[in-house]
Amino acid sequence: MEKKITRVGVLTSGGDSPGMNAAIRAVVRTGIYYGLQVHGIMRGFQGLIEDDIYRMESRSVANIIQRGGTMLKTARCKEFFDYEGRKAAYENLKRRGIQGIIIIGGDGSFRGAVQFSKEFDLPCIGIAGTIDKDINGTDFTIGFDTAVNTAVEAIDKIRDTMDAHERIFIIEVMGRDAGYIALHSGIATGAENILIPERKTIMEDIIASLLEKERRKKLVNLIVVAEGDDFGGAYEVQKVLKEKLPNAEIRVCILGHIQRGGAPSCLDRIIASRMGYHAIESLMEGRYNVFVGILNNKMNYIPLEDAVKNKGKISEEWIKIVKILAS
Ligand code: F6P
Repeated sequence: MEKKITRVGVLTSGGDSPGMNAAIRAVVRTGIYYGLQVHGIMRGFQGLIEDDIYRMESRSVANIIQRGGTMLKTARCKEFFDYEGRKAAYENLKRRGIQGIIIIGGDGSFRGAVQFSKEFDLPCIGIAGTIDKDINGTDFTIGFDTAVNTAVEAIDKIRDTMDAHERIFIIEVMGRDAGYIALHSGIATGAENILIPERKTIMEDIIASLLEKERRKKLVNLIVVAEGDDFGGAYEVQKVLKEKLPNAEIRVCILGHIQRGGAPSCLDRIIASRMGYHAIESLMEGRYNVFVGILNNKMNYIPLEDAVKNKGKISEEWIKIVKILAS
């Protein structure tokens, strides 16, 4: 029989995302409700290695549900890639009597956790805190909704000036390996073209469509590019378009880290609260080394390693919608 868990740790890791605080709050308060000791680990895996860990109480997470960022800070920890780093982390946890950890992070953080859980007997539970939405087994990741809404708000403003000047605008949004932010914000703002890492960008097609629009005197065109698009980002696109469309005025705006900050949306607070609550329940019920997601509004548990492999494909339906609506 599994040993009963009485002491757990929680950390946030990788790029921060709005709603991470709401998830920490849910983990801490649910843990305490069930009589567990909950320990906050600072700066993700870095704090595990450096033993920067402290006991949290219910009041430790007061007044944070509405805040962006993460009260536990976050880091992309290189030392955790090495066995020595993971061993030091394990020893710190063992010495403190922590029997399981909840990792709120993205793809890179889960890969680290999978490796750690294979080497050491310490259960890890993953909750997806990433604006990129590039995790399997869930319809939502914490922070995605807020990030997309931030992008939409910014693009709407750019649209006003784009329309006034009859320009082409190329907006670069985040997403090193994933095009979800670009696809969602692009559809929601009526973009004519959306360039994403999951699909090869055929610049000739984009040029042809812009030339055809120029002939029809449709001079206002919005192109949303994910930073990880294979063509190379907004400035690369601008360079090529300037050559082929010498009469057009083409401007670039890179939204950058504005997408990672700000108060979490209602949706992000709710999913963070549900995921945090169920992460503790998973540990208590002996459901170890799983990723806790939400699919079709139901909790969904898959092995942590499955959360990061063969990640969800972009639906062809969405691509078709972009094409048809942009005419
Ligand atoms: O993982 C989330 C993310 O925002 C990516 O979309 C982006 O490429 C990356 O983080 C940026 O990371 P950093 O803040 O470390 O530059």
